[in-house]
Amino acid sequence: MTTLITNIGELTTNVSTAEGDRVGTLHDAAVLIEDGRIAWVGAAADAPGPSTGSGTQSGSGIPTGSGTQDVIDAGGRAVIPGFVDSHSHLMFGGDRAAEFEARMAGQKYAAGGIRSTVAATRAASDDELRARLRGFLDEMLAQGTTTVEIKSGYGLSVVDEERLVRLAAEVTSEVTFLGAHVVPVEYADRPDAYVDLVTGPMLDACAPHSRWIDVFCETGAFTVPQSRRVLEAGIARGLAPRVHASQLGPGEGVRLAVELGAASVDHGTYLTEGDVTALAASDTVLTLLPGVEFSTRQPYPDARRLIDAGVTVALACDTNPGSSFTSSMPFCIAIAVRDMGMTPAEAVWAATAGGARALRRDDVGVVTPGARADLVLLKAPTRIHLAYRPGVPLVDQVWKDGVAALAGSESDRATEEHGSLTR
Ligand code: NIG
Ligand code: FE
Repeated sequence: MTTLITNIGELTTNVSTAEGDRVGTLHDAAVLIEDGRIAWVGAAADAPGPSTGSGTQSGSGIPTGSGTQDVIDAGGRAVIPGFVDSHSHLMFGGDRAAEFEARMAGQKYAAGGIRSTVAATRAASDDELRARLRGFLDEMLAQGTTTVEIKSGYGLSVVDEERLVRLAAEVTSEVTFLGAHVVPVEYADRPDAYVDLVTGPMLDACAPHSRWIDVFCETGAFTVPQSRRVLEAGIARGLAPRVHASQLGPGEGVRLAVELGAASVDHGTYLTEGDVTALAASDTVLTLLPGVEFSTRQPYPDARRLIDAGVTVALACDTNPGSSFTSSMPFCIAIAVRDMGMTPAEAVWAATAGGARALRRDDVGVVTPGARADLVLLKAPTRIHLAYRPGVPLVDQVWKDGVAALAGSESDRATEEHGSLTR
């Protein structure tokens, strides 16, 4: 069984062209999906299989020589790769709405707020955490996210951190052990003893469920030497490093991340010229998290300056109850275009292929034969609408590994009512 999505008005492939289009835009395009992977990409007129002109029916299972083919008529609308959200903290209990309200009234964000989520997380049962997680994944999918990285970091004990990475591993292969998120109250006057715990028994318990090791290298969280210890211990256990740095002020975390070959360093709200130079000369992606600046009233980083300097930039939501409680990649794209100097094409690239780079993945974030068939059909003629129409739900259908993942989409309704998606 194959699926052909045809009559795509604007297809963002992220396969850069000889003409210099980094997002590889095709017009009047089609994509063939087979066994969960992209099998073919090209001009709709050249699409393999049965006729793709008007009159084709979505979901009709038109017989072909080699089996059946579902034909989806995109109606001239835009298709992009599924978003790759490479930074989230979805494993937690409670929320901090009152803290957000106080911030909007002038209070400053501080790393210590993390501790108030720790008690609620420890008190939550596995099933409560699973249900919460499922809710976040559903809302992310509805907004076009098909790959998500999930961090621990609100357990901060061996038992609770193990629980968080184990439960996260039930839903994604991109699990990050962030035992070094903040020093918990019970270790408040013995931070180095807490680092001993993180790099010893906690790492032993969490490494089997994790791909990544992360640390919050920041004033109020972990110093540079402590961060180095955490990252090097994780690397020695086979985990790959990624780092939270320069969120609340300039520091040496970015340079540490680059030195250790981190896949990504995240936040980068306060970068020095030295940071930018080091990033530009490295394979480390800088993951910008506009939801954080939005929700903490900090200045947005100048993505234009970073891209022009040669830094690879990704965008992610950083969904968490403290600094950024959005799960919307379109919202982050809108901010990046409006306030960070990115073009819509750059922002969409950063939210798809950029996220994939930040996770060292080449099977997602790109529409090319062999890649996973993770695709988003927009209720819009162009990806520009993601920034042009902020706050509007523009995701019509999402395919995850080739399977249509949204029930009751506009496409389905159009098919039921008219037997065709062409409008
Ligand atoms: O990415 N920076 C550290 N961690 C989260 C914030 C967590 C919280 O405030 O609860 C972040 O912003
Ligand atoms: Fe974070």
